[in-house]
Amino acid sequence: MKRISVFCPATIANISCGFDVLGLALEAIGDEMIVTKTEEPGIRISKITGQALPLETMDNVAGVAGLALLNQCDYEGGFEIEIHKKIKPGSGIGSSAASAAGAVWAMNELLEQPFTQLELVNFAMQGEALASGVAHADNVAPALFGGFTLVRSYEPLDIIKINTPPELYATVIHPQIEVKTSDSRKILKRSISLKDGIKQWGNVGGLIAGLFLEDYDLIGRSLVDHIVEPVRSMLIPGFNEVKSETIKAGALGSGISGSGPSIFALSKGKETAERTADAMSKIYNNIGVEYDVYVSKINTIGMHKI
Ligand code: HSE
Repeated sequence: MKRISVFCPATIANISCGFDVLGLALEAIGDEMIVTKTEEPGIRISKITGQALPLETMDNVAGVAGLALLNQCDYEGGFEIEIHKKIKPGSGIGSSAASAAGAVWAMNELLEQPFTQLELVNFAMQGEALASGVAHADNVAPALFGGFTLVRSYEPLDIIKINTPPELYATVIHPQIEVKTSDSRKILKRSISLKDGIKQWGNVGGLIAGLFLEDYDLIGRSLVDHIVEPVRSMLIPGFNEVKSETIKAGALGSGISGSGPSIFALSKGKETAERTADAMSKIYNNIGVEYDVYVSKINTIGMHKI
């Protein structure tokens, strides 16, 4: 195989309580990438549609992640990458992760899979480091593994795929303001109290147990963030109102998607997820902020060929 077209899913990182460790992949929105083997060594980004992003390999997350992979194998050729962006940068649903993970996944397929998924996460994290200054894995892991993922440890990297209850749906609303991950990380406190830590890891354990037990109420009770959300929510207009209206609409719980400004909710069943989307949309219609809204099944397979 010389060329491959890939669906690169959007992702929700953190999932409220799991800052930098939890994430999930979406089915309804993602980028498309076309990667071709070339005789010429190195990586060339030949085309980007949908967004104005750098074509220069070292300035592009797909280029940097791809080079990290190339440096670890004895393949003497190179790759040409086309990126068709559907996920807006700065939206909080893993735009950089989709490109970085998509590039390395496609290259690994074209090279007949010399690397494990965990190794691919490692390469893709180099792209995240370029985008936000920190090599976090909570978007690239679900983009590559699919479903829900837990980064149990960064050193050494240890990623666990978590069960996806079949009736779970995500609703995501993206108010059209841009929040850079690097900026929304700078405002976070450097230390947390033991009291907040206890509440937070109770919820992380609760969420993981809820997902495996397919206990939707436990999932909902665990979607609470005592550490990051109180700080970051100040950057998102209408946040508190959106949160309370999603619960009234029947969602299990909601929170900031990644570093924002998107807000996500999880629901049992598509109907509730759609009602939640309407409730969220109403708030932004009232305050006069434009938005995109998505209702999506959880994407349990991650990156895939199209
Ligand atoms: N865990 C990262 C953050 C995700 O919240 O900064 C960014 O999408």
